[in-house]
Order: sequence, then structure tokens, then C-alpha cells
Amino acid sequence: MTATIIDGKAFAARIRGEVAEHVARLKEAHSITPGLAVVLVGEDPASQVYVRNKHAQTLEAGMESFEHRLPADTPEADLLDLVARLNADPAVHGILVQLPLPGHVDAEKVINAIDPAKDVDGFHISNVGLLGTGQKAMVPCTPLGCLMMLRDHLGSLSGLEAVVIGRSNIVGKPMAQLLLGDSCTVTVAHSRTRDLPGVVRRADIVVAAVGRPEMVEGDWIKPGATVIDVGINRVDAPEKGEGKTRLVGDCDFESCAAVAGAITPVPGGVGPMTIACLLANTLTACCRANGLPEPEGLTA
Ligand code: GUN
Repeated sequence: MTATIIDGKAFAARIRGEVAEHVARLKEAHSITPGLAVVLVGEDPASQVYVRNKHAQTLEAGMESFEHRLPADTPEADLLDLVARLNADPAVHGILVQLPLPGHVDAEKVINAIDPAKDVDGFHISNVGLLGTGQKAMVPCTPLGCLMMLRDHLGSLSGLEAVVIGRSNIVGKPMAQLLLGDSCTVTVAHSRTRDLPGVVRRADIVVAAVGRPEMVEGDWIKPGATVIDVGINRVDAPEKGEGKTRLVGDCDFESCAAVAGAITPVPGGVGPMTIACLLANTLTACCRANGLPEPEGLTA
């Protein structure tokens, strides 16, 4: 069997298109423009790339983008002041504080200072609790993107066996909650799981989010399973020349694709979905703030 390749780049473009259409209707019918504020502290190169992409795609969707770039030595109190101002600003519907934050800042304190209704990352403790109890929450972008891809590819997920590999607060745990919400039978596996290959072999759906390059092998995969690879790992690629690197996922793509029914590639799979879902969350937050119906198909 050779797997269907799930094209995350194309799917994310479709989601961004749907968001842009909804934004245009909001402007036309209600004179409302959704606004996203992104806060970047310091000069982390990867974060700068993310923030630049977020800014460009927010504008492309017809939304307002507010960028706040602060020096690495910004005191925590100043950051909390900025969050308070953004909470109070009616033009701002979504707030994202880019992680990681410098060591002298308590990231949890800053995240939990964000108005939960504007927490488009879904990291605030209130949103974590709402998601865990099956209530209306802001949902973390990467797992939301994985859920959208799974629904798009499989239709109903009800009754399927899902194995999530990884227990992070940002991906593994919320992914498990979302799959439970769609009536999967969910196992959360991790680095201490005994007989990980045996556990993964039970799964109709595998979500790999461990951050270990090419760890999941083809003979761990049940024939026909759907494999969502969240990993983005940079590894040496001497075959491309000295000092060259390439991106790989947490799954060994070739061997997994030979057994799976469908698989997301790296790059071009889950990655592009994260910003698309950030835009979807900003739109959802804006609709909720204005008592308008939520966009269909763009929420959990
Ligand atoms: N850093 C890397 N990814 C993310 C993300 O999705 N949200 C935030 N806030 N920071 C990040």
C-alpha cells in the first residue's frame, strides 16, 4: 500500500481563503475588522521568522495586525502592562505572546494575564480547563490544525483508535482532548511508554509530536492508518553537501508511507496549518466578542 499524501500547504491555503471570505463579510455587513496582536520579546531567530509570517498572513486575510517587538531585557512588569493594554483595546480580538520568553520572565504568569477570550493560542489555564471539560474554548492552533486535517480526510472520527505520541501542553495533551471530543478511543504515549511500537500498532490515527527525528517506523503502523506528523526536526544532510541540513518529521516518512493509508509530509504537512488556525481563532474570537455566529468548520 502507498499512502495518500495529505497536502497541508494546500489545505492551509483553503482555510486562509475561508477566513478571508468571512473577514470580508464581517467588514461589509458589520464594519468590524478582526485584529491580532503579536508580542515578540528578544531576537530569537526562529521566533522572528514565525512572527514575520504571522504578520504577512494576517494582513493577507484582511485582518489588522499589531506587532509589538520588545528588547530581550524588557522587565516582566512592562510585559504585563502591555498585555493589560491589549486586553482593554477593543480593536484587538486576539493576543499571542511568542514563546519562548527570556529566562527572567515567568511565561505562565504572562500567558495567564491574557484575557482568555483573546487567548488565540489557547494556552491560558481557563481555556485548558474549558477544553478539558468539553466546553467552548480557544483551542491551541497546532492540534486544531491536526483535527481539521483528520476530519477532512476521514470524515467522522467516532470510535476510531487514536494514539498521540507526546504529552506536551502545546500539542499532545490538547490533541488528546480534541480526539476525545470527536469520540475517539485515545491513548497518550510518551518516552516512558512500554512497548511503544505495540501501542502505536493499535492505532487507526497516529499523531506524532515527540520531537525525535524519524522515530516512528513503518512497522509500527497499522496498515491503512492515518499518520499526522507534527515533528519539525533539522538534521544533517551530508548527501546534499558539506554542512547541509534538511527537515524531517517524527516519522520515518518512506517506511510509514509504505504502510499508512494517509500521511502528512514534513515540510508541507501540519506546519502551514498552525498559522491558518491562528487566523481562524482570531476570527472566532472576534465573532464571539461581537455576539455574531462563529465561522463554520473553523472551530473544534
Ligand atoms: N513559539 C513557537 N510556536 C508557537 C505558538 O504556536 N505560539 C506561541 N505563542 N509561541 C510559539
